[in-house]
Amino acid sequence: MKRRAADNRRPVRRSLWRSIWSVLGLFCLAGLVLFVVHHNHNGDRTVQPLSEDTTASFREEDHQVFNFTDEISSDTSFARQLAEQMTLAKAYIIIAKEHNNLHLAWELSSKFRTSQLLLSRAAMRGEPITLEEAGPVIKSMSSLIFKAQDLHYDIATTITTMRTHIQALEERANAAVVQSVVFGQLAAGSLPKSVHCSIIKLASDWLQYPTLRNLADEIRNSPRLVDNNLYHFCLFSDNLLGTSVVVNSTVSNVDHPKQLVFHIVTNGVNYGPMQAWFLSNDFKGATIEVQIMEEFSWLNASFFDISHHMKTSSLLNHLRFYIPKIYPQLEKVVFLDDDVVVQKELTPLFSLELHGNVNGAVETCLEAFHRYYKYLNFSNPIISSKFDPQACGWAFGMNIFDLIAWRKANVTSRYQYWQKQNKGGTLWKLGTLPPGLLAFYGLTEPLDRRWHVQGLGFDPNIDSRLIESAAVIHFNGNMKPWLKLGIEKYKPLWERYINMSHPHLRDCTSS
Ligand SMILES: *[C@@H]1O[C@H](CO)[C@@H](O)[C@H](O)[C@H]1NC(C)=O
Ligand SMILES: *[C@@H]1O[C@H](CO)[C@@H](O)[C@H](O)[C@H]1NC(C)=O
Ligand SMILES: *[C@@H]1O[C@H](CO)[C@@H](O)[C@H](O)[C@H]1NC(C)=O
Ligand SMILES: *[C@@H]1O[C@H](CO)[C@@H](O)[C@H](O)[C@H]1NC(C)=O
Ligand SMILES: *[C@@H]1O[C@H](CO)[C@@H](O)[C@H](O)[C@H]1NC(C)=O
Ligand SMILES: *[C@@H]1O[C@H](CO)[C@@H](O)[C@H](O)[C@H]1NC(C)=O
Repeated sequence: MKRRAADNRRPVRRSLWRSIWSVLGLFCLAGLVLFVVHHNHNGDRTVQPLSEDTTASFREEDHQVFNFTDEISSDTSFARQLAEQMTLAKAYIIIAKEHNNLHLAWELSSKFRTSQLLLSRAAMRGEPITLEEAGPVIKSMSSLIFKAQDLHYDIATTITTMRTHIQALEERANAAVVQSVVFGQLAAGSLPKSVHCSIIKLASDWLQYPTLRNLADEIRNSPRLVDNNLYHFCLFSDNLLGTSVVVNSTVSNVDHPKQLVFHIVTNGVNYGPMQAWFLSNDFKGATIEVQIMEEFSWLNASFFDISHHMKTSSLLNHLRFYIPKIYPQLEKVVFLDDDVVVQKELTPLFSLELHGNVNGAVETCLEAFHRYYKYLNFSNPIISSKFDPQACGWAFGMNIFDLIAWRKANVTSRYQYWQKQNKGGTLWKLGTLPPGLLAFYGLTEPLDRRWHVQGLGFDPNIDSRLIESAAVIHFNGNMKPWLKLGIEKYKPLWERYINMSHPHLRDCTSS
């Protein structure tokens, strides 16, 4: 069934081949050397110290970015090797997808995620990755990378892609550590290359300018973060542009943007770039807090064990079930996904009557027949005995949460209970909505559907009047507005909230 992409192969010129092989050879050699070196040092488990000249200043300035940075930047650590392999794998995932070799792309992505999980677990527990953990992953990833090399598709693409990576490696040598962290893990997103480039520049800004960090400290200590007279919004994302559009569109459509507080949680890799972006652009005086998921000490092993079983959804996605825990002092928040655009004033949401419910959400059963039986396995008695299969579904993406009612109803424990019941995926397969439907069952207040219009990421035929009247539009689906495959007629709705003349964005798209 899976043919080698023979049709895609082009006549090959020797000189091109030679350059490709030398590049790949270099990567492999470097990997091998690192592996052997580390293996020899394996007796003592300490991480090798960094050479002072390149990193001393970084370490001094950046201690609040988590310690895992030291580990991943160490020339001899497994974390570093994994990161480098991921870089290479990412290039081949892109190439494989472009040539429709979906099976290989899938295999590579799956190994990619294994590596990522290993890295984030090591970051969480704060210990280096061991040979036992890394060995099998590195080996199987190598063999896949060799397989990808073997198929080498289109020579020109390969060269271009490799060149991008090599440029990045050189750039990294200059600004040292951050870039390796950024570059290694960032590869995860399916964002265009220009965005990676901007993010690397922002990461350098974050390191270079102590004023940014002073500003961030000020915000961290601001009483506004816990002031229940203000309007609080939360979003959990590793997508900088998406997050920026959400924040910018929200503040652009309210009368008093200074009364808004945004609580962003991201991962360690995107933390610096996000801080640099939000602190150096104008968001009309709104307060914007950025936190690192890996630094939540209460987010312990049980969360990761639960989440381990959900291979395709990221841990950040499931943070939504822990909102009262993340913001113990807050009473109400609006939760936004990173693929929405806000078009109207959202503050009236905070005074809507929820009738004692926890979650205000738009329902989805009217037009699309999205009822509980669509999402959950009703052949299973634990589901059929407790839930009505005809109950109306609702949507995540723009929700108003009453956190007092949430705590009273123990919604987080309900979520954890259902996640445990779902070991093996017999109750539902993927995503945050099915456990959401269970955890918020009987606790959801239907909102007028104009609050939240969905489908802009898959449905090209949404009524334009409905879009225009919507307070929030949601690009749920695969055709995200920041991707090439986004639906063209909807893209301007998103793009108008991003300042493309920002130097980092401009320089990255033109080169
Ligand atoms: C980093 O690790 C060292 C020892 O491994 C520890 O003393 C230090 O407190 C850590 N720093 C942070 C910010 O966690
Ligand atoms: C994880 O945290 C929960 C509560 O936040 C606690 O009940 C549990 O004992 C913790 N587990 C571990 C392994 O620390
Ligand atoms: C929530 O949990 C607390 C203690 O864990 C318990 O006392 C209370 O009855 C629970 N409330 C509900 C509605 O389940
Ligand atoms: C649904 O649940 C039943 C009963 O536990 C189980 O036999 C079946 O395999 C489940 N279906 C799926 C698709 O997991
Ligand atoms: C925010 O959106 C406005 C349009 O409302 C745009 O002019 C501005 O450049 C955007 N700001 C950023 C930082 O993207
Ligand atoms: C867009 O960015 C440029 C460069 O940073 C800045 O001069 C300009 O004021 C920004 N425009 C808006 C509308 O925010």
